[in-house]
Amino acid sequence: MTEQKTEAAYKTDALIAEDIDAYLETHQHKTMLRFITCGSVDDGKSTLIGRLLYDSKMIFEDQLEALSNDSKTVGTQGQEIDFALLVDGLAAEREQGITIDVAYRFFNTEKRKFIVADCPGHEQYTRNMVTGASTADLAVILVDARKGVLVQTRRHSYLCHLIGIRNIVLAVNKMDLVGYDQSTFDQIVADYAAFAQDIGIESFTAMPISGFKGDNITSAPSANTPWYDGPSLVEHLESVEVLSDEAAAKPFRMPVQWVNRPNLDFRGFSGLIATGSVKPGDAVRVLPSGKTSTVKSIVTFDGELDEAVAGQSVTITLNDEIDCSRGDVLCVADDPPETADQFEATLVWLNDEDMHVGRSYWLKIGTQTVSATVQQPKYRIDVNTMDELAAKTLSLNDIGVAEVYSDKPLVFEPYADNRTLGGFILVDKITNATVAAGMLNFSLRRSQNVHWQATDITREHHAQMKNQTPRVLWFTGLSGSGKSTIANEVEKKLALMNRHTFLLDGDNVRHGLNKDLGFTEADRIENIRRIGEVAKLMTDAGLIVLTAFISPFRAERQMVRDMMGEAEFIEIFVDTPLEVAEERDVKGLYKKAREGKLKNFTGIDSPYEPPENPEITVNTVEMTPAEAASYIIDQILPLK
Ligand code: ADX
Repeated sequence: MTEQKTEAAYKTDALIAEDIDAYLETHQHKTMLRFITCGSVDDGKSTLIGRLLYDSKMIFEDQLEALSNDSKTVGTQGQEIDFALLVDGLAAEREQGITIDVAYRFFNTEKRKFIVADCPGHEQYTRNMVTGASTADLAVILVDARKGVLVQTRRHSYLCHLIGIRNIVLAVNKMDLVGYDQSTFDQIVADYAAFAQDIGIESFTAMPISGFKGDNITSAPSANTPWYDGPSLVEHLESVEVLSDEAAAKPFRMPVQWVNRPNLDFRGFSGLIATGSVKPGDAVRVLPSGKTSTVKSIVTFDGELDEAVAGQSVTITLNDEIDCSRGDVLCVADDPPETADQFEATLVWLNDEDMHVGRSYWLKIGTQTVSATVQQPKYRIDVNTMDELAAKTLSLNDIGVAEVYSDKPLVFEPYADNRTLGGFILVDKITNATVAAGMLNFSLRRSQNVHWQATDITREHHAQMKNQTPRVLWFTGLSGSGKSTIANEVEKKLALMNRHTFLLDGDNVRHGLNKDLGFTEADRIENIRRIGEVAKLMTDAGLIVLTAFISPFRAERQMVRDMMGEAEFIEIFVDTPLEVAEERDVKGLYKKAREGKLKNFTGIDSPYEPPENPEITVNTVEMTPAEAASYIIDQILPLK
């Protein structure tokens, strides 16, 4: 039960997606239900899934033989077949007696095909559960009849509800071990109903089952539960409404995955229809631009269609030549989704490293990718008690509500209405790890009232008038490394060359623009964000900007780099070892930090992440500040 295993499972997600596609291709004729099973250790989830696979004859003969041999050696059920062995693939897991990662299984009955995600029960695996639940139509919440509703039962139910699963089955398992007693069942259902109402679950279907003995799994009622008048689990799974039915009834939306342009005569927009349906002749709109046209044809691999609905992948051609590219959303013209850049969102934190308030992450939603920052959470939710707690950040498996700002407008719908246009992930720009899954709740009104003002005198004009190419010379290094001194020398040399420059220095800016900021991680991120914005404005004004800030985090330096034009950002690493900077201790701050009188001091009790690929590195042990400045000028002069 290690975290590495969980990571490994993550990496296989792409493979699983391929499997699912392959499976769908061979079973297109039947509707499909995606569901998840959740329960605590020993609730009998694996046994139940094994039973479903076995009863639907998904097991091949040779596997059966191996299974009955295995059951005799490692099974926990004596001589009978131990269905749990079918699903508990990993030997180590067997030893632990628990299921860890999300495992997807396929099976089908005469009426339907199924994909089941088996999710682990532990609190620390919330992220796996969220992964498994995000595309599910239904959740089977397993409860051990002997134990009743547990904290885990609540947590799983809450997560399923949060993720948008509206079909909940409360499967009271191991009824054989309580003598198929009706009052035990009724009591568990009553307990669950009270809790469900509290968290907003409007309805659920309860059934008494035994995964091990097979009661009420394929047919109902079992002879052991004559008092039960509901459907069997399989009957219920076969008849419940699936998400795609629901999605088809909504207005048409299709995130554009790519523009299909095989030759000059054909230009189509390809994607998976998220909601609604579309026909040739329908009036459609492209967002965020808002341009409209009508559908000319709907093309698929098997020919043209008269109509396409949610869940289908199609290529749509339009009657007008309008701009539309990957990330845009094609929708019905008179009922478009919203466009905004500030939101309230619910986030599930999936990364070992805590959330960094203010850091710029990639936000991916549908086929759109933008840069986005998360503000300090409004609250965090205790998933066991549902209490709202104060929080400064979010840690692994935390769920919280916070404002999210994107750098470009997003086409979206609240997650409750549309999972595709409301569900997103956040990706770390440096490590590429998926750090959070999120759900957009609503847009903030203020985001709709601020528009970018186009001005007539452009940045190109400003630069031309100064006869120079604007640049940012970004000095980074420890306190006392010599950033300010060297930057100052460089600026003097540039001034002698008639260059128009401006030096932004840490100590100075912190007296004015950033005097409200201290040295916590969040404050340093905000410090650099503001400097980045100011430097950007100054390059718009045509200046060569020099900045001297510790700027200890790679992510924020990268963020500023991304804000600037191609080749405009020059990162200069003032490479002074900590011992040397500490030895110099120009401001006496290292001494104070060592004595514990100054907290969060870079290099002492706050990290410095050196650049991995700086454009220029200067070694201040070997070079004097004047030499370093000359060296830098030599490096940048060829750039003009
Ligand atoms: S940054 O980390 O946010 O980039 P910045 O360059 O603006 O830092 O400010 C660093 C200067 O603030 C240092 O040169 C030092 O004079 C002063 N300072 C005061 N407290 C600290 C601290 N805890 N850590 C680092 N520098 C500090």
